[in-house]
Amino acid sequence: MAGSATSASLERDLTMTDTDFDRVRKLIYQRAGIVLAEHKREMVYSRLARRLRHHKLTLFSEYLARLERQPDSKEWEAFTNALTTNLTAFFREAHHFPLLANHVAASTAPVRIWCAAASTGEEPYSIAMTLHEALGTRAREARIVSTDIDTEALAKAREAVYPLEQVLKLSEARRKQFFLRGGGARAGLARIRPELTALVELRQLNLLAPNWGLDGGFDAIFCRNIMIYFDKQTQAKILERFVPLLKPNGLLFAGHSENFSYISQAFRLRGQTVYELASQPSSRPSASR
Ligand SMILES: C[S@@+](CC[C@H](N)C(=O)[O-])C[C@H]1O[C@@H](n2cnc3c(N)ncnc32)[C@H](O)[C@@H]1O
Repeated sequence: MAGSATSASLERDLTMTDTDFDRVRKLIYQRAGIVLAEHKREMVYSRLARRLRHHKLTLFSEYLARLERQPDSKEWEAFTNALTTNLTAFFREAHHFPLLANHVAASTAPVRIWCAAASTGEEPYSIAMTLHEALGTRAREARIVSTDIDTEALAKAREAVYPLEQVLKLSEARRKQFFLRGGGARAGLARIRPELTALVELRQLNLLAPNWGLDGGFDAIFCRNIMIYFDKQTQAKILERFVPLLKPNGLLFAGHSENFSYISQAFRLRGQTVYELASQPSSRPSASR
């Protein structure tokens, strides 16, 4: 019967069989570490359908065979971009930012932050606003290395232009200080001011890559709402590689549903979804005093 849940292929103009879906899951896991759940079938179909149509193909099997035949093809980038989830927002998980402000205010050296899943830029620009507020003119020396695997998301971050309705959720003070409102053809949009974009360096980085090409000495690493897409083994490996990149008192910020305590001994919980290196003397006041 058409549309039956057990049907081998989705009843659409393109053919995606169960085998094709499993192959997609395997390929995106190998390439980006992303574990795609069984119920993501429809999502995979609709996101990759655009790629098949672009290449005038009707069979997923043919599209996937082409990918596999050409490990260096540009299409891998489009395949990966299509399967990532870029959901983000300015000051998402707002409790992290006052903590970051306190942390950097205490630092005397130029501040360096790594935002490891920067998506379309709302997160690194929220960090940049926090540094401006906490450090004043000293923020100019700060650097926010912002990386993501998704080149389309990075291009949006580079553009630094956002729909006004997203920006209207921020306080009036922040809107005035950090955004330029568009006029004419750009009405309904707002651009991040150059004082902030100057702090943010955007580059592509796959967290699975054997070499990240990053210097250490970060005051903080933001790795929020990405580990949830990886399996425990991948999470553990990434956490291990964060350790030498953080300053001894550095902080690791995780997403709201991510818990690293059971995955790595190298970090211990410092506050709500914020971690510090376990090798440091505890920053918590002793309860037994
Ligand atoms: C849900 S968004 C989270 C964005 C932001 N950190 C936040 O919390 O709002 C996840 C991001 O991780 C990126 N991503 C997925 N796999 C990745 C990988 N292997 N390496 C680096 N980034 C990856 C996606 O492209 C996406 O932009």
